[in-house]
Amino acid sequence: MALSLHPRAEACGKVILFGEHAVVYGQPAIAAALPGALLLTATALADPAATMMLKIPAWDLDLSLTADSEHPVVRAVLETLGYCDGPLHGYAIVGDAGLPAGAGLGSSAALCVAVARLVLGPDADAEAVVEASLAGERVFHGAPSGVDSQVAARGGLLRFVRGSEPESLPLGGPLPVVIVDSKQDRSTGALVSAVRARHDRFTMVVRPILDAIGQCGLNATHALADRDLPRLGELMNINHGLLKSLGVSSPILDEMCSTALRVGALGAKLTGAGGGGCIVAIPGPEPTDRDTLLTAFREDGFHPLALDIQP
Ligand code: PMV
Repeated sequence: MALSLHPRAEACGKVILFGEHAVVYGQPAIAAALPGALLLTATALADPAATMMLKIPAWDLDLSLTADSEHPVVRAVLETLGYCDGPLHGYAIVGDAGLPAGAGLGSSAALCVAVARLVLGPDADAEAVVEASLAGERVFHGAPSGVDSQVAARGGLLRFVRGSEPESLPLGGPLPVVIVDSKQDRSTGALVSAVRARHDRFTMVVRPILDAIGQCGLNATHALADRDLPRLGELMNINHGLLKSLGVSSPILDEMCSTALRVGALGAKLTGAGGGGCIVAIPGPEPTDRDTLLTAFREDGFHPLALDIQP
């Protein structure tokens, strides 16, 4: 057993550009890291047998990590610590979060990856960190594909196929995106189960939709490398339509994508499990296009994030 925790650990969030849900069925997903999602600081308590504490003010979390707790965050953190043979008592862990929780931007994977790194250390092998974090992610999401954990641990722009080592993708320059949180709650596990139910009822209909989502990702790989933003945007629009046909969009997400396209975005889609959470949009090519997009969402009462995905 590791007797101590490292003093600090970080993890990225993620934005899935292509392939959510289809990735569960073996299709490729393309996801980019969002740096600065979570920084954890661990401080040893005077009594090594004292109950472990976890506080992440930005996520409204102030928890005692007791073994009999039903709280999913407590269970996930204890599962992750236990998987790496880390200490289960005697520390206060405080988190500084730069992204919202529960919005499909990888907050739960960031938490589990950062907790694993508190035990395994900053130089730990990424695969070992991912494996440990998945013990916690399973508490939140049942049987996650692993895409969130891979991006949270490795950073960068990744192509991920379930069960294979992720591949870093070339990006022909920083990629400007706008991410907008619908503020609608949703459960990734429930949405993944709903897609499973539709798949099982209409297998011959749903399979080609999942395959087509995979093809969007394959085409997008070239568009990203060539910095062909109109092509990338068109593929995002197609991917959103396919996700809608799987039943994971919602009126508000569709409305937000329409708003983005109406004010000149090259493409827009839901990102993550859907049902609520965020959309991601690619602004037009002019320097003012991103501002136009941001203004439109602010006028509708949203708090859009402007980010550059880095090569
Ligand atoms: O964690 P979320 O809500 O961004 O969704 C994860 C992506 C899914 O493909 C829907 C599920 C998975 O395990 O890959």
